[in-house]
Amino acid sequence: SENKPLAGRHVIITSGPTHEPIDPVRYIANRSSGKQGCELAMAAAKLGADVTLVSGPVSIADPPGVRVVRVTTAKEMLEAVEAALPADIAIFAAAVADWRVAAPSVSKIKKSASNAPPALSLAENPDILKAIAQRSKGRPALVVGFAAETHDVLVHAKKKLKSKGADWIVANDVSPQTGIMGGDRNTVHLLTSAGVESWPEMTKADVAAKIVERAAKHLASLKRA
Ligand code: C5P
Repeated sequence: SENKPLAGRHVIITSGPTHEPIDPVRYIANRSSGKQGCELAMAAAKLGADVTLVSGPVSIADPPGVRVVRVTTAKEMLEAVEAALPADIAIFAAAVADWRVAAPSVSKIKKSASNAPPALSLAENPDILKAIAQRSKGRPALVVGFAAETHDVLVHAKKKLKSKGADWIVANDVSPQTGIMGGDRNTVHLLTSAGVESWPEMTKADVAAKIVERAAKHLASLKRA
């Protein structure tokens, strides 16, 4: 219908950081409030979609009207996304840790005057966006990634569009002076095969609404094709 263009569609959204354990009390993480992902989930639900939000540890409330799957690590996030397939649209807004501790300690690592600081050996985490975008079977019709950069935003985002196999990349400058990280506003660029669109600064809710509207239009055009 006109105001529920995503009715009957399944949308998967990843959001928040991942936490990669060092030991039972310590972890490695990325900075992420989960606000943009939460807004995307609510915006998709508003357009009638069935929404699965796979969220890392965040302090904000779960959005209403959405299936929320809480995970901790990148590996768990990938498993939860795969378990939620099939989907029409997948939007990867999570700030996934690129590395995990290869062999987390099962007990708390103790500090002692005689011991040197522990050396952490890291292993690469799965790239969830890439794994889903490059699936030969069951790839969502529209796969959207985010690119959070602190410099040369468009250069890095263009590379990501290709290397990850995403249909769209939403790029934003998250250098500290922008206030985007943890804030309620965002300034983004939408990269598609057709080129780059730079959107004016707006709320994360408005960014989410625009992305989801575009996604609905895109799906409708695929159907007609
Ligand atoms: O490579 P980078 O982390 O900057 O790429 C950002 C995009 O890739 C985001 O959409 C993010 O959610 C996704 N990503 C992912 N799994 C990773 C790393 C990033 O899904 N391990």
